[in-house]
Amino acid sequence: MSTPQRIIVGITGASGAAYAQRTIACLVEAGVEVHLVVSPLGQRLLHDELGMEGVDLAALAGREDHGVVLHHYRDVGASIASGSFKHDGMIVVPCSNNSLASIATGVSNNLLHRAANVTLKERRRLVLCHRETPLGLIEVRNMAAVTEAGAVVCPANPGFYMLPESVDDLVDMVVGRLLDLVGVPHALRTRWAQSPANFRGDENK
Ligand SMILES: Cc1cc2nc3c(=O)[nH]c(=O)nc-3n(C[C@H](O)[C@H](O)[C@H](O)COP(=O)(O)O)c2cc1C
Repeated sequence: MSTPQRIIVGITGASGAAYAQRTIACLVEAGVEVHLVVSPLGQRLLHDELGMEGVDLAALAGREDHGVVLHHYRDVGASIASGSFKHDGMIVVPCSNNSLASIATGVSNNLLHRAANVTLKERRRLVLCHRETPLGLIEVRNMAAVTEAGAVVCPANPGFYMLPESVDDLVDMVVGRLLDLVGVPHALRTRWAQSPANFRGDENK
């Protein structure tokens, strides 16, 4: 029997709690063992944008039998703080400027930042679903630093080429990319398959 995939999810205080909820639900649906850490501002976003009281794991996973392990953000001695904890990747979704900066500089004052830095030092996949706009030079430099260190910056930046009909479709466009980046299979409608019929760019008038 093969071992289930194990993914760490971090939720920080950037807008886009719906991305986190859909990501966790899809990971659980795919049979992944999810380890979750939520920053205080991440918890505020869950409240403000999803109307959630505390960190409601069943609501995040979309089912009661979720098996999601919640780690307290202050518990820097938790299993996920150690390089000896084997996992298949970490997704920070959404990722604030603040957490991007901490990860870029290796400052690990909470468990989320520690787990992200350990993921990098162990050469495992770290995906940062960053949300802020516009970008200042500091964010651009921090993105360069984490990319050089091996992370993937995957902005919360949905494409429109699948002709979305709802906010859920837009959320799925981003979540599908996040799942692809940690190698988790999904059936979200995110894949570009063909060119629009009858389009001839060279006949532009
Ligand atoms: C409602 C709300 C929305 C926010 N949205 C963003 C955002 O989209 N991007 C961002 O970088 N910071 C955003 N912030 C600010 C961060 O939450 C703040 O910088 C915080 O220190 C981030 O801490 P964390 O990275 O530990 O979660 C928002 C704050 C609030 C209260």
